Amino acid sequence: MVSVLLIGIFTRLTDVVLLLGRPRLLRPYLGLWREEFRHTPYRARRTFEVIRALKASGQRFRELIYGETPLLTAILAFQRAGVGHGSRLVDLGAGRGRVLLAARWLGAEARGIELIADHVTRVEPLLARAGARLQVGDATQEDLENPTHVFTNWLALEPATKARLIERFRTCRPGTRFITVTRPIEAKDFVRLSRHWMLFTWGIESVWIHEYQPGQG
Ligand SMILES: C[S@@+](CC[C@H](N)C(=O)[O-])C[C@H]1O[C@@H](n2cnc3c(N)ncnc32)[C@H](O)[C@@H]1O
Repeated sequence: MVSVLLIGIFTRLTDVVLLLGRPRLLRPYLGLWREEFRHTPYRARRTFEVIRALKASGQRFRELIYGETPLLTAILAFQRAGVGHGSRLVDLGAGRGRVLLAARWLGAEARGIELIADHVTRVEPLLARAGARLQVGDATQEDLENPTHVFTNWLALEPATKARLIERFRTCRPGTRFITVTRPIEAKDFVRLSRHWMLFTWGIESVWIHEYQPGQG
């Protein structure tokens, strides 16, 4: 528990140092922080809206377990996946959208899809100021024809939800890169390019990079 607290402090400090030279991103980042203090995303509540969203997506409450990717971790992972100017990154299950700031830091277009509307409405205007879009939606239904890179921190998803998400991944263009946290994509046509051990607030975790190559893998 103490180690989680210390990692949390360390990653936030590195995030802020990274953003010091980018005021356009620093202000929204600090805004996300403020919203977190006002209303924590880490304690999911069974509100009417949450139950309705879960019913519509066919998911369980425990799939909403919240965790965020530190900015530096996301930047390093995205760099390794080739994200940069001209890239279009989508975060599926984007939470409060911190990862989108990492994509913007690298000069990419950034869009996040989040099932829980409360996360989105709290921070969407802040992210818009950084040039990132956060939208309410079910990742397993999302239109994925446009992105060059898809990120998902899917550690809490049940196998059935992951399977539906992977079917959605197949609607992407060949050559689209996928960055997943904890577990790789275990399905034909998704060629594993690399695995990296990276720092998350709860400890060291695997990040996997794949490329969609239909008929190849
Ligand atoms: C572990 S958090 C990751 C947040 C962010 N991507 C990051 O890494 O910092 C996972 C998020 O996925 C959301 N989620 C779960 N199922 C979803 C679905 N079907 N569509 C969109 N978002 C979903 C949860 O509400 C939660 O906010």
